[in-house]
Amino acid sequence: MSLANRSLVTIDDLSNGEIEALFSLADEMAELINDQSKVCQGKIMASLFFEPSTRTRLSFETAMHRLGGHVISAVDIGATSLAKGESIADMARVVGSYADIIVIRHPWEGAARVVADYAGIPVINAGDGGHEHPTQTLCDLYTIKKERQTIKGLKIALWGDLKYGRTVHSLAYVLARFGATILFHPASGLGMPEHVLRKLTTEYKGELKRYEALDQVAKGGLFPIDAIYITPSIPHQLAMMPDISIQVELKTGVDALYVTRLQEERHTPAVERQGVKKDYPVVDKKLLKEKEFKRTLVMHPLPRVDELAYELDADPRSMYFKQAARGVPVRMALIALLLGAKEVTIPKEDDSFVQKVDYPIYRRDSGVRCPNPLCVSNQETEVRYINPEFKIVSLKPLTLRCIYCEHELQPQYIASSDWHQGMLENKKYHSADSWLVRRIKPGNLIIFDTKNEAETRGFKPSSYVR
Ligand code: NCD
Repeated sequence: MSLANRSLVTIDDLSNGEIEALFSLADEMAELINDQSKVCQGKIMASLFFEPSTRTRLSFETAMHRLGGHVISAVDIGATSLAKGESIADMARVVGSYADIIVIRHPWEGAARVVADYAGIPVINAGDGGHEHPTQTLCDLYTIKKERQTIKGLKIALWGDLKYGRTVHSLAYVLARFGATILFHPASGLGMPEHVLRKLTTEYKGELKRYEALDQVAKGGLFPIDAIYITPSIPHQLAMMPDISIQVELKTGVDALYVTRLQEERHTPAVERQGVKKDYPVVDKKLLKEKEFKRTLVMHPLPRVDELAYELDADPRSMYFKQAARGVPVRMALIALLLGAKEVTIPKEDDSFVQKVDYPIYRRDSGVRCPNPLCVSNQETEVRYINPEFKIVSLKPLTLRCIYCEHELQPQYIASSDWHQGMLENKKYHSADSWLVRRIKPGNLIIFDTKNEAETRGFKPSSYVR
């Protein structure tokens, strides 16, 4: 099967079978790494890195060189026309006419999607703000598979800054899709964002237990957790009787501990990080002496700061340098596939942990905006071309998910474009929590953030406005 001309913006752009096939190709590439120099001969990769990067950029560029292709690059917004006020869309169109594939890292969440929408060539997201980092996830998953042969049924702990770290967002989705149990151990105040947790519970088949619902032992044990995502993949005690002590279950061992650094650059304001820094959880020899970590793979996307002790580097459980090294064959396989230079056979898909949902889309220009200030839809100086667009992920309460950064909002007021049928006296708006929200066809729904906005557009409050 060909994956030619596809883009990788979020990890969900690849199915489980496609990921498995990509890993087989990465194995082949790793084995004969010096024999791949004809695979992408004559092709050009644009490497656009508008945030600091060592591993991701250099492994992508190494990958393209190993495949026999060429690389053009821009690594500083200040050195591009974006600094003159050019839109990302225009940049994407232009670079798309020079290169055959684009790899982009950008501080705005959803920026890679915009580039993919406008470039006309395959685009790979190398990290868009705190949103996602799908290729790091491919390296992480590849490493776990290499070391453990499977993902299904494993217990994997995500550690550190789960709020602003993009790698853990993509990783959580893929672990859920492959049937792993996920333990969340965030630094204080840096738990997984609500929109990520919601996606885990609505789009994958496991069950999420939050801190308040955990029993005392689990809360305060050696390895305190803030939430746990329990996969339905194995009929183990935990899944059948979720109220038994999770700590007891953990005694059977954690398969991987995925450590992340404090994402200081995304913390605002600076004071927020002062307190967190002091209490940031550290993984060291002492912690790993505990029984549940006996066979644990210690992982980290790198760079590390203080959260992972150097004394662990020689420990056979430490995987982080292997993760980084595997970035080259994994990215070689990805580039070759998206450029159509290689085809693969997709193994039989196991998507039994995925809950397929087709959410209706809301794209009316009624002034509803994404609440995330770092979202690309709020960042382009004058938003000249990006129309806010949302998935309606719930009606009770009415919840919209931004298609760019996936942050959610719960707007207050609704109306129908159909019911007033040109009759001004019928042009009414209602509270979003009234039963009417379920009566209006998604195509006719108009959503407002404030009463003022509804009234400015000529709507009057109905008796269903609180
Ligand atoms: C990560 C990133 O950029 O999100 N690094 C990487 O790509 N290997 C993690 C981080 O910066 O902490």
